[in-house]
Amino acid sequence: MRVLVTGGAGYIGSHVVKALGESGYEVLTYDNLSYGHPDSVLCGDLVAGDLADTQKLRQVFASFRPDAVMHFAAFIVVPESVKEPLKYYRNNFCNALNLIDACLEFKVNRFIFSSTAAVYGIPGKIPVNEEEPLEPINPYGRSKVMVENALSDISAAGDLRYVSLRYFNVSGADEKARIGQNRKDATHLITVAVRTALGKKPYLEIYGIDYPTPDGTCVRDYIHVDDLSDAHLVSLRYLFDNGRSEIFNCGYGHGYSVKEVVDAAKRVTGVDFRVINTGRREGDPPALVADSTKLRNTLGWKPGHDDLDYIIRTAFEWEKKLRND
Ligand code: UFG
Repeated sequence: MRVLVTGGAGYIGSHVVKALGESGYEVLTYDNLSYGHPDSVLCGDLVAGDLADTQKLRQVFASFRPDAVMHFAAFIVVPESVKEPLKYYRNNFCNALNLIDACLEFKVNRFIFSSTAAVYGIPGKIPVNEEEPLEPINPYGRSKVMVENALSDISAAGDLRYVSLRYFNVSGADEKARIGQNRKDATHLITVAVRTALGKKPYLEIYGIDYPTPDGTCVRDYIHVDDLSDAHLVSLRYLFDNGRSEIFNCGYGHGYSVKEVVDAAKRVTGVDFRVINTGRREGDPPALVADSTKLRNTLGWKPGHDDLDYIIRTAFEWEKKLRND
């Protein structure tokens, strides 16, 4: 079976490409390399191309003839989406339509979409299930809701079937430290923590200690990137088994506060790095925890790395290696 992966040279895409290759799928990565790295593509070939280049995209469909498409290529930085919304709507929405259009033209009826917990905005209840209203609070989240809506309408009108996976806080790295988060400007808490432990940053800022949570800092559901990859593989099998279009939350179902993550990072790395309490960061919901019952029950997904120390350790080992490159 052949799977076309857009954004396969990026952080999450590259872990899924690895998992697909190890499971015997034939994989082709299509990535414009704006943030992706050719070295991160551990399985299959890489075509450097942009989703706005519909001619190139069609050539790839015509020659590779995929049986399924996984779509990771998107921008993900919330504050940037507030400053440059058009950039987000153009890439995350219009380019997704280009890809779906190519799927329809080449009769590729299985589509897996990278969605996000940001579609919920500030959820009314925790843990949040897939029925919670979609009230994104920034252009990034809205751009993802727009694609979900388009997929829903397009699949209702024809043969396309899709799975939309709403990611919570994806973190950690490959066990052998071959791939991991590779953005210089990464803002994600665990990446910032291990970079601070390694002295790449002078201190870690905690954005707000006055939230209505047990210790006053925000609570998140951190899911190891290899468990998230596995959610993609079970979704793919589901679509190959003729499963109908579905949406699943991807998280473990329990959260850690920022303080808990920072304490764990100090313990795992063995470095008592400097931490400063600063004000709240705009747009942070106090708590975001997935109810992933549907993913577990419908697809039989069983996470193997629901362990904060393991997540931090793999991120740390990868980050050490990055320094030596
Ligand atoms: N945080 C800090 N200091 C840092 C970095 C983060 O205190 O240096 C805090 C944040 O304020 C937040 C928590 O750590 O409370 C987690 O922040 P991340 O940036 O790691 O992740 P987010 O929860 O902001 O973002 C994630 C996804 C987004 C998605 C969003 C939905 O990465 O793609 O959840 O709210 F949009």
